[in-house]
Amino acid sequence: MMALEKISRSFFLSLSKNKVLNIGAKKWGLGLGASQVVAGTTIESMIKTVSQLNNEGLLCTVDHLGEFVLSKEEARYATKKCIETLEAIATSGVNCQLSVKLTQLGLDIDDQFCLENMKEIMKVAKKFHNFVQIDMEDYSRKKATLEILAALRESYDNVGTVIQAYLYDAEDDVEMLKGMPLRLVKGAYKEQEVVAFQDKARIDNQYLRIIKKHLMNGSYTAIGSHDHVIIDKVIEFANQNGIPRTQFEFQMLYGFRTDLQKDLVDKGYTMRVYVPFGEDWYGYFMRRLAERPQNVTFALKGLLSK
Ligand code: FDA
Repeated sequence: MMALEKISRSFFLSLSKNKVLNIGAKKWGLGLGASQVVAGTTIESMIKTVSQLNNEGLLCTVDHLGEFVLSKEEARYATKKCIETLEAIATSGVNCQLSVKLTQLGLDIDDQFCLENMKEIMKVAKKFHNFVQIDMEDYSRKKATLEILAALRESYDNVGTVIQAYLYDAEDDVEMLKGMPLRLVKGAYKEQEVVAFQDKARIDNQYLRIIKKHLMNGSYTAIGSHDHVIIDKVIEFANQNGIPRTQFEFQMLYGFRTDLQKDLVDKGYTMRVYVPFGEDWYGYFMRRLAERPQNVTFALKGLLSK
């Protein structure tokens, strides 16, 4: 990684955790160009976006934005929002799953409390035959996330999680979670060298390795990436190994590489768009800026259009 890119990544990742700016951002409303990658702040605006994407042949998973919640009241509110989201998906008839972040549902307060909130969500997801993907956050939360997942899987088969290829543990985790629907990604957080690869080539290598492993294990695999090189290699691997298109899907974030998304749909692949919405857009948006300095143009365009 170039020195400038490294500085920019660290800069935006540190901004993503800035509490004062986060609170300010909620008051501003969607700013800094975030509306191009966030589907508004309400359930209504999200359903409208999802419906438009469905009409273009794109499936969706929605994320009611929020993370690192430290009060039970806020975590309960987030749980209620997730349930309302599932209800709105069912009522409107859109083709859409739910993605959640456990720190929004109380993981940093008390694991058991978080598990209870997740059970409330899973009950409703089950009722509506929907699927819930638990996003993976930073490494310090991974163990607790996998424990909650295991507890949920005792009663629910419609829940899965995300494995991050930058972690040295990734391959072991994929092996352990054999048979479970997983989203595999490169990883978005700043992690220490003791737990994660730091350079792109190694992360890409491990990424392809875990995708191939999960596919060869016969497990349903979502490839969450905008990287056309990886996508091409996955398609080639699937063709060579007789892996049916029904066993995997591609996932990309709302507002990113829309031409590539459309291209994959036109070629007959399942393409799911991760659609974030809600007032708590700030941390999500800063992580996207950290990943790709070019995304800063979104922010600049947003500022100029004010
Ligand atoms: P990467 O950023 O490595 O880019 C590789 C190459 O692809 C670039 O050099 C460029 O050529 C091309 N490219 C990438 N973006 C482009 C763009 N916008 N326009 C043009 N070319 C582009 N992370 C996490 O830690 N936990 C999670 O739960 C999730 N969940 C998640 C869901 C979904 C649906 C996605 C797509 C991603 C996540 N992530 C995530 C984020 C993920 O870990 C990762 O940080 C980003 O996807 C960035 O990595 P990529 O694989 O997209 O390509």
